[in-house]
Amino acid sequence: MERQMLRAALDKLKRKGVLLECNKEVDPKFELGAVLKHFSNEVPILFKKVKGSKIPVVGAMFGERKIYYDMLGITHEERIFKMMDAIANPKPTKLLTKGPVMENIITKNIDLPKMFPIPTFHEEDSSSYITAGLVVIKDPETGQRHVSVRRLQINGGNEMSVLVASPLANKQYLEMEKLNKPLEIAVVLGYDYSILLASQISSETYGVDKYEVDSALRGEPLELVKCHSIDLEVPAHAEIVFEGIMPPHRRVTEGPFGELMGYYGNVGPHPVMEVKAIMHRNNPIFQTAFPSREEHLSNGLIREIELYSALKTMVDVKDVNVTVSGGCRFHAFAAINKRNAGDGKSAIIAALASSKDVKHVVIVDNDVDIFSHDDMEWAIASRVQASRDLVVIPGALGSGLEPSHGLNGVTDKIGIDATKPLGDAGKKFERAKIPGFEKIDIEKYLPGIKL
Ligand SMILES: Cc1cc2nc3c(=O)[nH]c(=O)nc-3n(C[C@H](O)[C@H](O)[C@H](O)COP(=O)(O)O)c2cc1C
Repeated sequence: MERQMLRAALDKLKRKGVLLECNKEVDPKFELGAVLKHFSNEVPILFKKVKGSKIPVVGAMFGERKIYYDMLGITHEERIFKMMDAIANPKPTKLLTKGPVMENIITKNIDLPKMFPIPTFHEEDSSSYITAGLVVIKDPETGQRHVSVRRLQINGGNEMSVLVASPLANKQYLEMEKLNKPLEIAVVLGYDYSILLASQISSETYGVDKYEVDSALRGEPLELVKCHSIDLEVPAHAEIVFEGIMPPHRRVTEGPFGELMGYYGNVGPHPVMEVKAIMHRNNPIFQTAFPSREEHLSNGLIREIELYSALKTMVDVKDVNVTVSGGCRFHAFAAINKRNAGDGKSAIIAALASSKDVKHVVIVDNDVDIFSHDDMEWAIASRVQASRDLVVIPGALGSGLEPSHGLNGVTDKIGIDATKPLGDAGKKFERAKIPGFEKIDIEKYLPGIKL
């Protein structure tokens, strides 16, 4: 039986009946992504025949909340606390001498576009991209591991550009560059839900080993092996590991690339990775993620912990939603148990302060479903008066990853207090109820109806 990582996850997805398998040949250029996008990147699909390659490709594994919870074995209600617990109590990993990912080791004639079915997603993308690479580096001074997901532009041959946006990863590269030395780097494909989630916490904020957070989340030690040619550890049951170096003083133009919110992001010079060795399992499966939709759910789940924690200090928060349509970072919905007249505004202050990326916040009462856009619109339509309930903060620092911020480098932030008044005034805001509605068994009235 498969243990940990992609194959174990695929077995489970199959058993649950949520994995689609495509037997028709697809072109990795545009066609594969178009099929993923048809299902809004929410349905995992295994493409068994990919033009120009014998290697199958899997995508859209991480784009749907319910699948994510099921695969982690957690409920929606527990998610925030399980993740907080794993971050606060990381558990040791287990280093094996051998693992399935070592079944094949290639050190010569590495030609990435020829060897792997690497997709191109959007019309103006500069090249094909590895969009779901789990990037592993080590701090040369402290030896502390750093794990995150980055996109990698295929430059041809054995070279790809690495988009290192976060300050910490950049710091390690820049430190080595000052010493005129290369930084060792591994890129892992073929992982699972737990490690992707762990990879999305910020090293700067938490300073923990994300492999150890993964061990805590999965409830058993993450099994690792040493890379073949560099001093880094990677998951033993992964599909493919690219090993190499980021040489100092070399940068290549990266982009354009269709990314967050479906826009082409900034084009600029970025460091490169020279792939020196590849380890892969027999009959490897290539893992991709449609940019930038499904992956941001995992990122958004971590943001929900942070939003919840910030709100908890000010109000009695019931639940939070960092919405997918808002790029899993720009929009925050929160339901609160309102106890004091100012709770709605306090919640706005806390939510907007929880991350520079949060741009628009809506606070509702606990009778509103914050995962239903209909219900949210209902609350805004019927419980908000702009002169009283709208908070506008002009010119704050926002995220450069959305184009309206780019107009002048700052972002206006908005909070909407859609909570109803307390006391007698609140009675006007009670919803009309049908006694027995929740308990109705519709099949009794309409036998055989497909729900
Ligand atoms: C599939 C996927 C692709 C991502 N691509 C990038 C990327 O290209 N560049 C980037 O800076 N962050 C990217 N991210 C987000 C980072 O992985 C995430 O912010 C992570 O927490 C960074 O960790 P760090 O703050 O410890 O460096 C991606 C996330 C996912 C899930």
